[in-house]
Amino acid sequence: MSAYPTEVNRMRIVEIKAVKDENLNVKTIFFEDDLCSSAEAGQFVMVWIPGVDEIPLTLSSIGSRSKDGLSSVTVAEVGEATRALRGMEAGELIGVRGPFGNHFETVSRGGRALVVGGGIGMASLMPLIERLVENDVETTVLFGVKSRSNLLFMERLGELSAQGRIRLLVTTEDGTYGAEGLVTEAAEKVLSSGRFDVVYSCGPEAMMYKIFGLAEKLGIPVQLSLERIIRCAIGICGSCVVGPYRVCRDGPIFTSDRLRVIRDFGRFRRDFNGRKTPI
Ligand SMILES: Cc1cc2nc3c(=O)[nH]c(=O)nc-3n(C[C@H](O)[C@H](O)[C@H](O)COP(=O)(O)OP(=O)(O)OC[C@H]3O[C@@H](n4cnc5c(N)ncnc54)[C@H](O)[C@@H]3O)c2cc1C
Ligand code: FES
Repeated sequence: MSAYPTEVNRMRIVEIKAVKDENLNVKTIFFEDDLCSSAEAGQFVMVWIPGVDEIPLTLSSIGSRSKDGLSSVTVAEVGEATRALRGMEAGELIGVRGPFGNHFETVSRGGRALVVGGGIGMASLMPLIERLVENDVETTVLFGVKSRSNLLFMERLGELSAQGRIRLLVTTEDGTYGAEGLVTEAAEKVLSSGRFDVVYSCGPEAMMYKIFGLAEKLGIPVQLSLERIIRCAIGICGSCVVGPYRVCRDGPIFTSDRLRVIRDFGRFRRDFNGRKTPI
């Protein structure tokens, strides 16, 4: 295991340059940071919310590739830290360590990729989709949410779709936008009707488990982004262990060969005390 350069793990205090409400529960926070600017799609950072906590969040945009040079994280409110971060505004300060972990590997030019996102999982997939498009990969994006009010990144996705650079299919469980049903049902149809070189996915683990099963039957390699409790982010504390791997160092992106040996994948995760809890 090679060590991260000290610089990556050193906390930098950065100013929030802008915020964008993606929907009623999700906000994107933009900031400037040299290391995040040169991150790869799928990597995450540890964000310190002063006086509250430090939490892992994926980079939803990467400075060197965004029009305004800013990087961002996109946060869905689920508890104390995410609530506090979602309440922050431009001009306030946060701490950032990272970027950490491995990243999505893009399929080669001219290849065909299926990207399947569920809810906030789309945050990790946005920089990947933009990279695939840049690399002339034929990209189909399936994005599933519960209801229309849970949609996010629709401007970025809509622009790529309108330019004909991605094929975009949205599903809502209640049928209020796009096709009614689960994104896994749409994935099953799309996978049976087309040829893909790779499937990328991020979202609820039960969803990714189903996607993995579908891809395995068809012999298509996957790259999935897994979540476990992350504390140190540099491979020391063991809180993110999944099978023989640590999500913070060996992941968060896992390929088919690794997923096959993670017996907990789709079944169990460990809580803050290390106890296994069903997914
Ligand atoms: C690699 C990675 C990338 C992530 N990227 C994003 C993202 O882009 N956007 C986003 O909204 N969320 C992301 N998450 C999840 C996010 O870290 C948690 O929602 C957040 O830590 C919850 O903190 P809280 O205090 O608000 O909630 P709490 O009430 O403390 O926890 C709510 C739930 O969040 C999870 N959680 C809490 N703390 C952690 C932690 N330290 N590490 C992992 N999970 C935790 C647990 O499942 C917990 O049950 C990511 C998680 C990981 C592991
Ligand atoms: S978070 Fe400490 S080993 Fe992964």
